[in-house]
Amino acid sequence: MHNPVRKAVFPVGGLGTRFLPATKVIPKEMLPVVDKPLIQYAVEEAWAAGIEEIIFVTGRGKSSIEDHFDHVWELEDTLKARGKDEQLQEIEKTLPTPGAISYTRQQEPAGLGHAVWCARNLVGNEPFAVLLADDLVQSERPCLAQMLDVYKELGGNIVAAEDVPRDQTDKYGILDVSEDDGRIASAKGLVEKPDPAVAPSTLSIIGRYILQPEVFTELDRQETGAGGEIQLTDAMARTIGAVPFHGLRFEGTRFDCGSKTGFLAANIAFGLEREELAADLRQILNHYSVGSVSGA
Ligand code: G1P
Repeated sequence: MHNPVRKAVFPVGGLGTRFLPATKVIPKEMLPVVDKPLIQYAVEEAWAAGIEEIIFVTGRGKSSIEDHFDHVWELEDTLKARGKDEQLQEIEKTLPTPGAISYTRQQEPAGLGHAVWCARNLVGNEPFAVLLADDLVQSERPCLAQMLDVYKELGGNIVAAEDVPRDQTDKYGILDVSEDDGRIASAKGLVEKPDPAVAPSTLSIIGRYILQPEVFTELDRQETGAGGEIQLTDAMARTIGAVPFHGLRFEGTRFDCGSKTGFLAANIAFGLEREELAADLRQILNHYSVGSVSGA
C-alpha cells in the first residue's frame, strides 16, 4: 500500500513574458481557454483525482488567482437576485472546501525546482502532486487520475510523459529510459532540456508529477542546472535508485498553453467540445481553411 496523495502544488509564480502585453497585469494562469482560466482547469483536474489540499506557489502580482478561488459576494448576490442559477453554479465550482487551499510565495524566479521547494513546509513528509497549468490535457479520464491509477500499483515518482520530435528535446525534461512497455517507461536517469544530438530518448516530461517527499532533500541543496535555474528534473533524477521513477504515456491530448499556437489550439479543441459552440466554431474554421487554400 503506497501512501495516499492528498496534496497538490501549483507553481504559479512565473512571469508569463511570452504572452505580453496580455500578462502585464493579468497572471498567465488566468488566461481563459474558451471561458475558464487555465488555472481552474488544473485545479479541477486535481479535485477530480481526489486531491484534498491545494497549495499555490505564487509571486508578486498574482493575487487575482487567490481572488478567483474565493467568494465574490456582490456578483453572487446579483446573480441570485436575477435568477441566473446557471452562472451562479459556474462560479460556485471555483470554491474549495474552506481551509483546503493555501498560498506561499516564491520570492525570486529561480526555477521550477525552487518553486516546488518553496512548498516544502506546506507539503510536509508525504507524497504530493505537482501540476503546471500551462500544460492543459484534454482527456476522458483526467490526466492526474490516470497517473494515480498507476501510482496505486507502482508507488514512487511518476510523471506524465509524451514522445516528442527529436528536434524538440531541448524544450523538456527527457527520460533516460531503462524499460518501456509502450505505456509505462521506467527511467535510469533524467536530463533537463538536452540538445537533440545528445538527448537520451525523445520521451518528454509534461507538467504533471507525483512525487515522494525525498525530492525536497535534493532540492534543499539549491543546486542550479539548465538555464542557471534550480531544476525539478535534476532533483528527481538524483532520487532515482532510492525512489522508483516511471513515466506514463497518458491517454489524451496535451496543449502547451505556454506557447501562442498551443494556446490557440486549446481554445479550438475545448471550444469544439462544447455543444453550444461547436457548430458555429466549425463554420468559422471552415471559412478560414477555405480562405487559406484559395489564397495560396
Ligand atoms: C518545465 C520542466 C520540464 C518539463 C516542462 C513541461 O519546463 O522544467 O522538465 O518538461 O515543464 O511543460 P518549462 O516549460 O517550465 O521550461
